[in-house]
Amino acid sequence: MQKNLNLVPFVSVDHMMKLVNTVGIERFLTDLAAYIEDDFRRWEIFDKTPRVASHSADGVIELMPTSDGKVYGFKYVNGHPSNTKDGLQTVTAFGVLSSVATGYPVLLSEMTILTALRTAAMSALAAKYLAPKGARTMAMIGNGAQSEFQALAFKAILGIDRLRLFDIDRTASDKCLKNLEDMGLNITICSTPEDAVEGAEIVTTVTADKQFATILTDNMVGSGIHINAIGGDCPGKTELHRDILLRSDIFVEYPPQTRIEGEIQQLAADHPVTELWQVISGHKKGRKDPRQITLFDSVGFAIEDFSALRYVLDQLHDTGHFHNLDMLADPDTPRDLFGMLLRAKDA
Ligand SMILES: NC(=O)c1ccc[n+]([C@@H]2O[C@H](COP(=O)([O-])OP(=O)(O)OC[C@H]3O[C@@H](n4cnc5c(N)ncnc54)[C@H](O)[C@@H]3O)[C@@H](O)[C@H]2O)c1
Repeated sequence: MQKNLNLVPFVSVDHMMKLVNTVGIERFLTDLAAYIEDDFRRWEIFDKTPRVASHSADGVIELMPTSDGKVYGFKYVNGHPSNTKDGLQTVTAFGVLSSVATGYPVLLSEMTILTALRTAAMSALAAKYLAPKGARTMAMIGNGAQSEFQALAFKAILGIDRLRLFDIDRTASDKCLKNLEDMGLNITICSTPEDAVEGAEIVTTVTADKQFATILTDNMVGSGIHINAIGGDCPGKTELHRDILLRSDIFVEYPPQTRIEGEIQQLAADHPVTELWQVISGHKKGRKDPRQITLFDSVGFAIEDFSALRYVLDQLHDTGHFHNLDMLADPDTPRDLFGMLLRAKDA
């Protein structure tokens, strides 16, 4: 008989930070990208559904479930662009993995840090198939919580070593530069977005604003560029001018979700897009031509979170960076739940 059926491993924020620092952030991002890549290669076996979103004037709260038939996972995540004004994060998250066979949770984890890591790993993985060969310079517009993770994933996975930053709030760029000091990146803070994209082979947009924004206009995007568009991930929340979309080859995670949430909500419902899993598994081509504009219209899909939780679970045994939560009622005999409650009162 298994012992301690009540206990579920829990990775707190503190443990997640210890885990990332033990593994090393660049190795963590690279290994995590490999887990996502593996799961995208077996895309067809997963349960897939657009995430379940509850919108309000201030933001959104979402549930993101999936399963590969053996393991079930979900993430709870919010997006509240005005939160930072009150000292709160724009995005917070936690997630669960469970055994499909028993329905018992096998992992509960913080996912605020893990979401930043998985989003960055996903972006760099997409760019591995889509960005121009030998790209070394990335412009990054929006220098908030996600930005350093994006920069380090592109360094570790693509070999980016020059970064051009722009944010409407200069203190965000200063923070990003300071955090990335001595990490092997040559960083320039730019005073306009036009200046930031100058000479960049990859442009990452990672701003937060709950509206149809125009972070990039058509004249800012030259041929051969790869655009990694992260911040347009909700109905009514986009970053790119529609004309850019019309000139780009667009790659997405899961079309039924991206058509609701991504940049392509600005286009007709049948506008052609390529699913990234098909590129990763070799069914479709990524970049075909050095002059092509490629766009990863990222919104974040449940399978990426599933991969991230799977990766974290696999690290727990060796690192010990977790504690056990008394999370599941475990009566002496399964049907005597009430008896367990009574006995607890007497005790
Ligand atoms: N695609 C995904 O998988 C995914 C995952 C996580 C977060 N996100 C999204 O990424 C975005 C960034 O998240 P975050 O946690 O870094 O948010 P954040 O609030 O910490 O940072 C956003 C930054 O964008 C800047 N900004 C806003 N408008 C701008 C503009 N017009 N030009 C330049 N800079 C501008 C802000 O000053 C801020 O520094 C959010 O929109 C979030 O919803 C997407």
